[in-house]
Amino acid sequence: MSTPRTALVTGAARGIGRAVAARLAADGFAVTACDLNGDRLEAALPELKEHGEVRPLVADVTDLDYMTAWLDRQETPLTALVNNAAVAPRIPLAELDADALADVMRVNFQAAALLGREAGRGMCAAGRGSIVNVASVNALRGQPDMLHYNASKAALVSLTQTLALEYAPHGVRVNAVCPGSTWTDMWEEGGWGEADRADFAGRIPLRRFAEPREIAATVAFLAGEDSSYVTGHALVADGGLTVRM
Ligand SMILES: NC(=O)c1ccc[n+]([C@@H]2O[C@H](COP(=O)([O-])OP(=O)(O)OC[C@H]3O[C@@H](n4cnc5c(N)ncnc54)[C@H](O)[C@@H]3O)[C@@H](O)[C@H]2O)c1
Repeated sequence: MSTPRTALVTGAARGIGRAVAARLAADGFAVTACDLNGDRLEAALPELKEHGEVRPLVADVTDLDYMTAWLDRQETPLTALVNNAAVAPRIPLAELDADALADVMRVNFQAAALLGREAGRGMCAAGRGSIVNVASVNALRGQPDMLHYNASKAALVSLTQTLALEYAPHGVRVNAVCPGSTWTDMWEEGGWGEADRADFAGRIPLRRFAEPREIAATVAFLAGEDSSYVTGHALVADGGLTVRM
């Protein structure tokens, strides 16, 4: 019997992460949907379970001891890790202090790096596995008021390239997805409103925001065997935004 495929998706209670958890479950992964917000995760669970095997993990990805203990308890190393959890507060540079910068880097970059390190141990020992880091087009281009976020996402692309090289000899692949504008609660919580939405949509060559399921499809491609020869890549899914003059 072949070993079951398992996936850990962080930030899976809503938005893109939730769509990724649903898609990977539908693709046959036994998915652990991890989120800091237990109430939100519980509310999402019935719908997530309609797609396949999904179990919840209420955890803060920055709590490395907790996450490592969870990894150690698993019967088999993960087949796929999707580092999706992130925060994106809108903070003008003039108001950005060291604590706010560190908070964003800790969730968006440091947790992904350290989780990639810990999950990577088991994956490398097993000689297989795929890590997908959900970065952003903000890793590739600037955006005012978002230096902290942009830098954290650029660091995630750098992490992707370096981990890909370190893990390639062990048969483990590491890739990133750089989504463009995808209207989720993150936008409204970050302080963006309907006027910003219309403004952004007007600049996207496809003339619309992405649906979370469209980003989830790119993550699923990189997490699964269809991308078996792809590693170190940052796949841009942005409706043409970043190729525009
Ligand atoms: N929405 C977009 O337009 C867009 C564009 C580019 C990239 N992205 C990236 O896609 C990913 C998902 O974005 P989204 O719009 O779905 O965000 P979202 O805010 O809707 O969802 C993020 C989830 O992560 C969880 N989370 C936050 N901090 C956590 C922590 N420390 N531990 C565990 N869970 C935590 C939140 O509770 C939330 O459920 C993020 O990495 C984001 O940077 C989003």
